[in-house]
Amino acid sequence: MQHIILDCDPGHDDAMAILLAVGNPGIDLIGVTTVGGNQSLDKVTYNARSVLEMAHATDIPVHAGSDRPLIRPLEVAASIHGETGLDGVTLPKPTRPLEQGHAANWIIDTIMGSEPGTITLVPTGPLTNIALAARLEPRIVERVKEVVLMGGGVHVGNWSAVAEFNIKTDPEAARVVFREAWPLTMVGLDLTHQALCTPQVQSRIDAIGTDLSAFASGLMDFFRKSYQNNQDFIDPPVHDPCTVAYLIDPSVMTTRRCPLDVEIADGPTLGMTVADLRGPEPSAKDCHTQVALKLDFDKFWNLIIDAITRIG
Ligand code: BDR
Ligand code: CA
Repeated sequence: MQHIILDCDPGHDDAMAILLAVGNPGIDLIGVTTVGGNQSLDKVTYNARSVLEMAHATDIPVHAGSDRPLIRPLEVAASIHGETGLDGVTLPKPTRPLEQGHAANWIIDTIMGSEPGTITLVPTGPLTNIALAARLEPRIVERVKEVVLMGGGVHVGNWSAVAEFNIKTDPEAARVVFREAWPLTMVGLDLTHQALCTPQVQSRIDAIGTDLSAFASGLMDFFRKSYQNNQDFIDPPVHDPCTVAYLIDPSVMTTRRCPLDVEIADGPTLGMTVADLRGPEPSAKDCHTQVALKLDFDKFWNLIIDAITRIG
């Protein structure tokens, strides 16, 4: 069983990550934390609570975190996710109240209060909360099992020629998180651009025939239009749930161990993730970071469809 904290900014694909985490029996979703990113903190926090309501998962606490990056103003991704952050669907009103306290403090308390090596951090938004937590309580770094994040790219960008949205939004936070010594898997655009919601996949979601599957399909309709209009895609890449899928079944993707760092200098390469792929692959002892490269498309979508079906 994987005990995870999902730190997210829903976001159409963050919503799919929540559904996969709730619906898969191998994942224990301890809590959801939110960060300003795709939309303002208030909006993404409401969205996270609403998606959990939709998934009948009102036992899962939601803590709100940072409303802006560490040193830069927040630039939201309304062009992809709309004004609400989850445009295209009707969101149920959350019944469970938002928890008190900052997400970074809750992450620290949860990790320090659990057995070492038992909790995995799964960030699918800008890394502000995770960087703050690591600075506030450095002991969490050796205590978490691993960090599996969506962000960056080895050979590709989407928010600039070389930078991906989550990393470019808060590059300084990303620098902190990538340089800490915890085992870190970067599930970046090289991988997530293979997680396309094709019409065939979407018809499988539709065929589940529940309110939840109609909700997920509505998310995908909007996401498809956004990616067609703004990013020159035919089918939308469903980035964020790839992280959770990896934790359920690592064989859903191939990875390569390599040193990773983040560019924080202003200019055309701001927010670029730099992967050193020279030479033979280093050992886990010598290198704590790895990148995801090749997705098993069928395995991935089978997991998503299974999770939506199980939630009912
Ligand atoms: C990432 O950016 C956000 O818009 C998505 O939710 C995903 O986490 C992809 O670059
Ligand atoms: Ca996201």
